[in-house]
Amino acid sequence: MTPPNHILITGASGGLGGALARHYAVPGRSLLLWGRDAARLEAVAAACRATGATVALRMLDLSDSASAVAALETDDAAHAIDLAIFAAGLGDTRAPGARVEDAAQIIRLGLVDFVAPAAMAAALADRMARRGAGGIVLVGSAAAFHALPFAAGYSGAKAGLARFAAALRIGVKPHGVRVTLVSPGFIDTAAARRTPGPKPFLMQPADAAARIARAAEDGRAHAILPWPFALLRWFDRLLPAVFRDRLLLSLTPPER
Ligand SMILES: NC(=O)c1ccc[n+]([C@@H]2O[C@H](COP(=O)([O-])OP(=O)(O)OC[C@H]3O[C@@H](n4cnc5c(N)ncnc54)[C@H](OP(=O)(O)O)[C@@H]3O)[C@@H](O)[C@H]2O)c1
Repeated sequence: MTPPNHILITGASGGLGGALARHYAVPGRSLLLWGRDAARLEAVAAACRATGATVALRMLDLSDSASAVAALETDDAAHAIDLAIFAAGLGDTRAPGARVEDAAQIIRLGLVDFVAPAAMAAALADRMARRGAGGIVLVGSAAAFHALPFAAGYSGAKAGLARFAAALRIGVKPHGVRVTLVSPGFIDTAAARRTPGPKPFLMQPADAAARIARAAEDGRAHAILPWPFALLRWFDRLLPAVFRDRLLLSLTPPER
């Protein structure tokens, strides 16, 4: 595959998205970086320009998914995107003391972690299919493999994204478009630091970014990072439901 020249990264103001931007920032490459926090996005842009990339920015809230799709179509029409990495996302668990996540939280997670990336990926995949080439990476989570009682909204949204990525990949592959789902375990970012509890096999953002770039380049259907999370997924699948439910409940912080 020819190296991508024009790359969109959503969530570029965040830990993983910023590391991806820096990974791809080389002379001759143009980056389109999306985020919400202007100061953090500008800082990432400055680092990327310093290593020779051309950078354009867009500030937008992905919970307005229709506007996000319209913006994507405008950006792609202005300069065709070779590779899009949908890295923006929200990690959230139920509030301390709560039995379940509240409705507003579920809506927010559904919009940012599923609706926006899926709608944008579909719109872009269609445009890429007309050009006969392109790459799309959807950043999911290893949480998608497990029915987490303390993060039903997050694990549910990421599970939806995983199924969507697989279906989209099959549909657009004959048209030269490659879709990769990435399911990370823990990455040392602000989002991970906000979540309490142990974080086994914690990856550094630059390491995760390099692995994601390799998976995209190889056109892999699914990359689980790092590999022990692939074992955990099989463990979850093979464990009888009654034991799995008990285990997941035992990992759940008490309500009060
Ligand atoms: N860190 C982990 O352990 C881990 C594990 C598994 C999967 N992931 C996934 O990896 C991706 C990146 O996460 P991260 O760890 O880098 O988290 P992060 O540092 O908190 O960055 C999250 C990014 O998403 C953007 N974002 C969040 N809500 C948004 C909204 N409503 N509209 C537009 N942009 C929004 C943020 O923009 P602003 O900051 O500008 O608001 C930020 O750029 C996410 O999809 C996450 O679910 C992370």
